Amino acid sequence: MVLNGKRILLIISGGIAAYKSLDLIRRLRERGASVRPLMTTGAQEFITPLAVGALAADHVFMDLFSRQDEQDIGHIRLARDCDLVLIAPATADLLAKMSAGLADDLASTVLLATDKPVLAAPAMNPHMWAHPATKRNIQTLRADGIRFVGPMAGEMAESREAGVGRMAEPLDIVAAVEALLDKGPKPLAGRKAVVTSGPTHEPIDPVRYIANRSSGRQGHAIASALAKLGAEVTLVSGPVTIQDPPGVTVIHVERAEEMRDAVLAALPADIAVMVAAVADWRVASASDQKIKKHPGESIPTLALTENPDILKTIGHHTMRPKLVVGFAAETQDIDNNARTKLDRKGADFIVANDVSPATGIMGGVRNRVKIVGRDGIEQWPDLTKEDVAAKLAALIAERLRQA
Ligand SMILES: Cc1cc2nc3c(=O)[nH]c(=O)nc-3n(C[C@H](O)[C@H](O)[C@H](O)COP(=O)(O)O)c2cc1C
Repeated sequence: MVLNGKRILLIISGGIAAYKSLDLIRRLRERGASVRPLMTTGAQEFITPLAVGALAADHVFMDLFSRQDEQDIGHIRLARDCDLVLIAPATADLLAKMSAGLADDLASTVLLATDKPVLAAPAMNPHMWAHPATKRNIQTLRADGIRFVGPMAGEMAESREAGVGRMAEPLDIVAAVEALLDKGPKPLAGRKAVVTSGPTHEPIDPVRYIANRSSGRQGHAIASALAKLGAEVTLVSGPVTIQDPPGVTVIHVERAEEMRDAVLAALPADIAVMVAAVADWRVASASDQKIKKHPGESIPTLALTENPDILKTIGHHTMRPKLVVGFAAETQDIDNNARTKLDRKGADFIVANDVSPATGIMGGVRNRVKIVGRDGIEQWPDLTKEDVAAKLAALIAERLRQA
């Protein structure tokens, strides 16, 4: 709800990534922000002011010397009647103008005249981004207090070139805007957290695998909630169909062994929250080739072997995080099973939930959990998975404060 009622002045400059700004406008507005768009002449070569204005439901500012715009609002008020100036995409050209303090069009003039925080999402060819001139400009702009989100590594939209230069995804930009405008407390600032989420897929052969019904919703929400309180979060996710949460580093894995390796690689950390529904067993020797069905032959049997216990590994590790939280998905005798798990795994507390099919929790959007600690059991009410995550992140922050 950070963006509710917030006014964003969105400057769109002339890069190919401008098409993503249309989605960005939607994402900002669906979170309650109003978006006032300003387009450079270059931007108008890539997307139309009509589309931008329609999505923003506002007038699109384009011309420094427009008599009408100057009469209606004026470029100085335009620069200040907002909570944040966002530049997405920010071209090499506009960044260069800003670092030199030029004011020869509406965007650069507004950027020089504003007294509001400025966040830029650079987007350009990797060679342009790596050029010493751009590097110098970015350094100057950082020193001037300009904030940045991205650019990311990946393939360029217009060429087959790859490297650092892609604009950050709209949801990552939204997360950066929220983080800048969020004046809420950041009790986990300076803390590192590793979170696991989702199921694991344990191969039987190249096309078949053993899985479970975990959606990753709870783990992903916890990663977001910890990041919101200021933690630097690494999320190790099994195969899920939901989006990567913005503002966290996501490592995608398939198997339990890969998940363990990724978690260990994320150490040292202050916090570990092991939410993933890791398969207890994997097929002892997965076939390299698809197992064929031959008429008359006996049905194959799958020999299983134990998977690594990631929570236990972390709970007893020499680099054990200060706070280790495990999840226990049970269908019976929840309290006792969670208590046993607490000691065996070396966790500080266990978040236990009843995943019997009737509860609809596994794969659903709500959760009803118990916090099982050495000092007792606390039952939380039925909540959305986001609310469970926010409550848990606050509890983690409180425990670390006391530690
Ligand atoms: C097809 C095409 C794609 C371009 N993409 C980018 C880009 O992604 N980033 C960038 O900095 N410049 C890009 N440029 C160059 C800018 O459009 C050019 O520097 C322009 O002067 C930028 O103007 P502005 O910063 O006022 O919007 C591209 C040019 C063309 C023709």
